[in-house]
Amino acid sequence: MTIHSSILSLIGRTPLVRLNTVTHGIEATVLVKLESMNPGGSVKDRIGIAMIEAAERDGVLKPGDLIIEPTSGNTGIGLALAARLKGYRCLFVMTDKASQERVRYLKALGADVLIVSSAAKMSSPEYYWNTAKRLAEELPGAVMLNQYDNGANPAIHTETTGPEIWEDTDGTVTHFIAGIGTGGTISGTARYLKSMNPDIQVIAADPLGSCIKTYKETGVLVDASPYLVEGVGQERIPANLDLSLVDDILNVTDLEAFTMARHLAREEGIFCGGSSGMNVAAALKVARTLPKEAVVVAIVCDTGERYLTKHHSDEWLKEKDLLEEAAQLSVRDAVAAKHQRGSLPALVSLPPQATVQEALALMSSYELSGVPVVESDHVLGVVRENKLMASVIANRDTLSTSVSELMAEPPSIIDGHEPIETAIAKLRTEPLVVVADFGRPTGILTRHDVLEYL
Ligand SMILES: Cc1ncc(COP(=O)(O)O)c(C=O)c1O
Repeated sequence: MTIHSSILSLIGRTPLVRLNTVTHGIEATVLVKLESMNPGGSVKDRIGIAMIEAAERDGVLKPGDLIIEPTSGNTGIGLALAARLKGYRCLFVMTDKASQERVRYLKALGADVLIVSSAAKMSSPEYYWNTAKRLAEELPGAVMLNQYDNGANPAIHTETTGPEIWEDTDGTVTHFIAGIGTGGTISGTARYLKSMNPDIQVIAADPLGSCIKTYKETGVLVDASPYLVEGVGQERIPANLDLSLVDDILNVTDLEAFTMARHLAREEGIFCGGSSGMNVAAALKVARTLPKEAVVVAIVCDTGERYLTKHHSDEWLKEKDLLEEAAQLSVRDAVAAKHQRGSLPALVSLPPQATVQEALALMSSYELSGVPVVESDHVLGVVRENKLMASVIANRDTLSTSVSELMAEPPSIIDGHEPIETAIAKLRTEPLVVVADFGRPTGILTRHDVLEYL
């Protein structure tokens, strides 16, 4: 029998997986370490238990104590998992930038959560870190483990993450790529990898807007500007970040990070957060310049399930003006938008036996100039208002003729998964196209619909 003594023994020993599709045109091997497969879904499970056990060893934590931590969410989950099993209570201070999924997750694990404004400056008492620090000083039995300067954070990566990468690549790893939140992952892992082979290049991915790249290159601490990727990038240099172990820092934009996260889901089946997309985007930039012997390892920090209402949602991306490029707009999206916009059913169609009179009434009630004729999910043709009108004017009896006798050749049928460009190309010469999902007609798109959508 193989039985784990508790959920905590499932932390670590995460798999290394080769990227096969997003690496198109790259000769080097690009691998991702799936920290998303930890029981709490992120790399932070490693430091949750490590910081608690270190505090127990140091006599800082006593049974029944309250763990207070400022966290963007994942550390909270890692801490909450371990804290409950070890008999501690938790209070997490988070900014309103953290996703709802994370807040709810923490509450589900039995923790308390305090949300503060993400707009508060570092100098303000309202800043999330300052709030947590103050509460840890004021509340009885409260302990702030502080992942930013707690040595147990990088140490667990030196003890576990680094050796796992070294062993799983048989020592062939040449480049290691990670983001910087506290700096624990990159510094701790780099320390081990460089101790095994000082030639291993350690490259940090940093959101455009974070101050770390400029600081490393010039020694100047500039004001950070806002970005949307969560959990990484800084407005100060955390104590746990050892920049002497970082060979280079690449800036990655929100758009690049989110686009890559979506590609990883769709093309590689790897469902991850924006910081993982950022790491892989940087890894691919690096790998593009490398020979085929190179082995690049990037960290997938957490699961995409935490971002279903963020970058894995088209609506959210649209709201942030990141959709157009981040997601390939599909024909199906355009039909869905049309459906949402108005009272018009997505697919207005006629059976072949409908009369011209019924067809004209239908077109006039929905203000349509053409309608497809459909029978048992087969598009037989299309009737156009001007042609029907002309026939009726020429001969009034046509009103009772069935549309099948007056219909024109069927319009183009486009699969809903096709990019919107396919519909645009067809609509250059045709007034309308029928959209089908898995062979079943589900909607119509006209030039007007596409224009309105775009
Ligand atoms: C989603 C996410 N990715 C990456 C990181 C960065 O890891 P580290 O703090 O070890 O630098 C964090 C840290 O909070 C995170 O929450």
